[in-house]
Amino acid sequence: MTKTLTDLMDARREEKFDLNARFLNEQMVGVLKTLGFDRRYVGGDGAYLIDESGSRYLDLLGGFGVFAVGRNHPRVIAALREVLDARLAGMVQMDVSLLAGLLAERLLATLPDSLDKVFFCNSGTEAAEGAIKFARYATRRAGLVYCERGYHGLSLGSLSLNGDELFREGFGPLLPGTHRIPYDDLAALERVLEEQEIAAFFVEPVLGHGVHVPSDDYLPEAARLCRKHGALLVVDEIQTGLGRTGRMWAFEHWGVEPDMVLSAKALSGGFVPVGAIMLRKPVFDALFSNMVRAPVHGSTFSKNDLAMAAGLATLDVIEEEGLVANAEKVGEGMLADLRGLVERYSFMHEVRGLGMMQAIEFAPPDGLRHRAAWKLLDAAQKGLFSQLVTVPLFKQHRILSQTASHDLAVVKFLPPLCLDDADRKLVVEAVDAVVADTENVGGAIWDLGKHLAGAALRTRGGR
Ligand SMILES: Cc1ncc(COP(=O)(O)O)c(C=O)c1O
Repeated sequence: MTKTLTDLMDARREEKFDLNARFLNEQMVGVLKTLGFDRRYVGGDGAYLIDESGSRYLDLLGGFGVFAVGRNHPRVIAALREVLDARLAGMVQMDVSLLAGLLAERLLATLPDSLDKVFFCNSGTEAAEGAIKFARYATRRAGLVYCERGYHGLSLGSLSLNGDELFREGFGPLLPGTHRIPYDDLAALERVLEEQEIAAFFVEPVLGHGVHVPSDDYLPEAARLCRKHGALLVVDEIQTGLGRTGRMWAFEHWGVEPDMVLSAKALSGGFVPVGAIMLRKPVFDALFSNMVRAPVHGSTFSKNDLAMAAGLATLDVIEEEGLVANAEKVGEGMLADLRGLVERYSFMHEVRGLGMMQAIEFAPPDGLRHRAAWKLLDAAQKGLFSQLVTVPLFKQHRILSQTASHDLAVVKFLPPLCLDDADRKLVVEAVDAVVADTENVGGAIWDLGKHLAGAALRTRGGR
């Protein structure tokens, strides 16, 4: 008889993909099998994943940015064990939480003094939903501004601020009063602030979709314009925050003071979902204005002890291991190395990023043969070229990465912040070798391209 979870997993390990195809997202299983990413991982260690044969994979996808402190960090595990062993009285609900108070204090100590309240929730999208409610309530305005290609989550409120039609299509009507503007376009922001009654402008300090770093005056000017027009500046640091860009918070690169800062992902330590909104007291107090209104926004599991302990331990690790400085040093070094490859390869167009948030953009080159090969792939699926890089990076070099979006020829890296110079060398040499192979149109990598293009066309036919 099956006794423990380990026994259960050992007994049924082979069924992972079948169970998922039958009972969960069959299309996801299809994607993994088509790309050859269908591995059976048995463990995680820092920046590395380990499969059943003992092979180690450098994880530059980082669970979409969740594993900033690396996988299975012993400090976070110890904190979680401590909570479980202490058998605490969590989620009493008619009580308040000491651990939540401590985590709030720690988070605010990393932020400008003007942010003096915290609202906890369970995920990034919930942080965005909360920010919409705080902004609308405090300003008594409905208008929300967001950016083309912006991403703040996939529940209906945050989806209303999503700048990508793939995610929005078919789910309407979404929230009224939303206005989409191009990213890094101050004139567009000024226009909408002048013409509409705007509660808040939601912006990622570095755009996750494609990894775009804005002009130096963008965020400071956006803050000034919002203030002038009585709108709140909501900086979504769910991906960029907690050290990823080489600053604790990405907005620090530009010395901005936002009205709200959103966090989630890495705050979990990679274990327990958690989200947080850090905001100004007047905005917080507007919504929670009297005792009757004390429960007017919240959710049952927010402030649970495991999440709060994971957050505290994560902040400890980031501080004690100097991960912010490491993200800057190793990240910027890696960006510089990768930039050095651009001149050498015809398909490699640009390397962008800040710290450990990086992108390599590919584009069709001048040569006729190379251009035609690119077009064939793009006709099957826009941006498909990026898989000619991610797949061999994975299969030949055991490096896990992602395409920056379904329609972009951009490969994106969001690695744990603990990457060292040996990892950096491994990545740069692997990218060098893989991109060199793409130059040989007709070679093995382009056979892979044909295979993926065929699969993309069949999928489209199946819609
Ligand atoms: C900038 C940004 N905001 C919000 C979210 C949504 O977070 P979650 O997936 O936890 O809902 C994400 C997730 O990728 C994100 O990158």
